[in-house]
Amino acid sequence: MFQDYRRSLIPQSVQDVLDRTLKYWRLDRYVIGTNKKEPNYRFRLWSPYNPEAVPETIVAGFSLSQMPGCCGLCVSHDAYVISSLRGRGIGTALNELRIYLARNMGYTCLLCTDVDSNEPQKKILSKNGWKTNMTFCNKRTGNIVNLHSALL
Ligand SMILES: CC(C)(COP(=O)(O)OP(=O)(O)OC[C@H]1O[C@@H](n2cnc3c(N)ncnc32)[C@H](O)[C@@H]1OP(=O)(O)O)[C@@H](O)C(=O)NCCC(=O)NCCS
Repeated sequence: MFQDYRRSLIPQSVQDVLDRTLKYWRLDRYVIGTNKKEPNYRFRLWSPYNPEAVPETIVAGFSLSQMPGCCGLCVSHDAYVISSLRGRGIGTALNELRIYLARNMGYTCLLCTDVDSNEPQKKILSKNGWKTNMTFCNKRTGNIVNLHSALL
């Protein structure tokens, strides 16, 4: 599935944070890979210890996709932490990592959206340099959605 291992994209300082995170929460390993064409990447944390599900479960992750038509702009999406591991700082660590990776991959700007009622995500973004550019009502779902950006 994730054949393209890219640990080398991550600097030692971030690897140290991730390794500590994995050890502390007894997670198994992390993988940066792609099952699409570059420059779109998926980052995943895996756990053999997750009591909620079968072994080898993906417990957290995010994806980075280049904005069609603009090689300077990257969209972060599908950020999540499995519910049993939320509230322990993993989402905050992953936010730091996605910013680092997008910068390291050469992007100038990173975009993401969240639903306005998503308090944990709003905290992560507001505490880590993201700006809210726009708030709108998604006509498809009726959700109030915020569009955020970070300069890299
Ligand atoms: C959003 C998400 C990734 C956050 O992951 P997480 O590992 O729980 O994040 P953290 O543990 O780093 O917590 C982030 C902040 O939210 C706070 N928080 C956690 N749960 C909360 C809750 N239920 N209500 C309010 N704040 C909460 C934490 O205290 C922390 O704030 P702090 O830094 O001031 O202490 C996770 O909740 C998730 O996967 N949600 C479902 C998918 C989703 O919404 N993805 C984002 C799409 S934009």
